[in-house]
Amino acid sequence: MHIGGVKFSVPVWLAPMSGVSDLPFRRLAMRFGAGAVVSEMIACEQLSEGEDEALLKVKGDEVFSHIVQLAGREAKWMALGAKIARDNGADIIDINMGCPAKKVTSGYSGSALMKDLDHALTLIEATVKAVDCPVTLKMRLGWDDKSLNAADLAQRAEEAGVQMVTVHGRTRCQFYKGMANWPAIGAIKESISIPLIANGDVKNACDAENILETTKASGVMIGRGAYGKPWLVGHVGHYLSEGNLPTEPEGAYLVDVILEHYEMLLEHYGLEVGLRAARKHLSWYLEADKQRLKHTPLVERKKLLTSYDMHEVKDLIRIIFNRSFEKQKYQAA
Ligand SMILES: Cc1cc2nc3c(=O)[nH]c(=O)nc-3n(C[C@H](O)[C@H](O)[C@H](O)COP(=O)(O)O)c2cc1C
Repeated sequence: MHIGGVKFSVPVWLAPMSGVSDLPFRRLAMRFGAGAVVSEMIACEQLSEGEDEALLKVKGDEVFSHIVQLAGREAKWMALGAKIARDNGADIIDINMGCPAKKVTSGYSGSALMKDLDHALTLIEATVKAVDCPVTLKMRLGWDDKSLNAADLAQRAEEAGVQMVTVHGRTRCQFYKGMANWPAIGAIKESISIPLIANGDVKNACDAENILETTKASGVMIGRGAYGKPWLVGHVGHYLSEGNLPTEPEGAYLVDVILEHYEMLLEHYGLEVGLRAARKHLSWYLEADKQRLKHTPLVERKKLLTSYDMHEVKDLIRIIFNRSFEKQKYQAA
């Protein structure tokens, strides 16, 4: 798949996820072979005003291609935000028209833009005009079941110069309920000639094969399935090209991955924020293996997820994430 002049040889991408796909997580996913990784959405107004949080989110050192997702409600902010992102090394600008969160849609951005396609187009056109790099668009199927207008939006976006679309197969009003509608994504794919990435409820290699088969999409995007598994996106990509799944990190290697992730978070956010940002990831690493979760005493779990002492947390990571490896070896023997 090509977007502008850029070739993407692995058709499995990490989804943009606020509070999850920050630079440390994207770096790890890339290292494990993700086809591409997309930044968390960044509010254009905040970026234009130089807010620290937005400036941190726009960073993309060691990530190739650096895809920055922008959210906004007015063309002028989108144009300005896109330029700033580009000046910060963005290779591709992705526009968010899929976020269902009330605090985003009540500000008429994210998926609320799907309620007024004429207005949505002004944002797209302004963004495309503002930068000399490819612009892509992420959307849902529509606002609700009565307004399934993603095909219309995708066609108009293509005419306006957008070079790829990603479709999450739910409406905004569904939030994350029910199942993503993969055939509906396939119908949108048929109506455009730019690449389409299919998204929604892909948790493993088998799901990825099925969504690609159903939608005939150029690629697949994985979000929640990668919680606690930064290797998943790359491993699914490997499966699609080689027909086999690499072994998941375990034992000492898993400990190294988690420790590195932990240290990257502390460096990226600073100690205070980093310690708290790390907790949800540590919790997902635990939940990713039910056996390990079962064998981790409550007192250790609690300390891991609440301690403000980074040395204590690191020691616990070494103990907890090596333990299941020893158990498996013991059980197998
Ligand atoms: C915690 C969380 C944060 C998200 N943040 C964003 C975001 O910043 N931008 C965006 O376009 N989508 C965002 N999404 C939606 C995901 O990119 C994706 O479309 C959705 O989770 C469906 O894919 P999945 O079933 O693989 O998780 C978010 C989803 C979650 C769960």
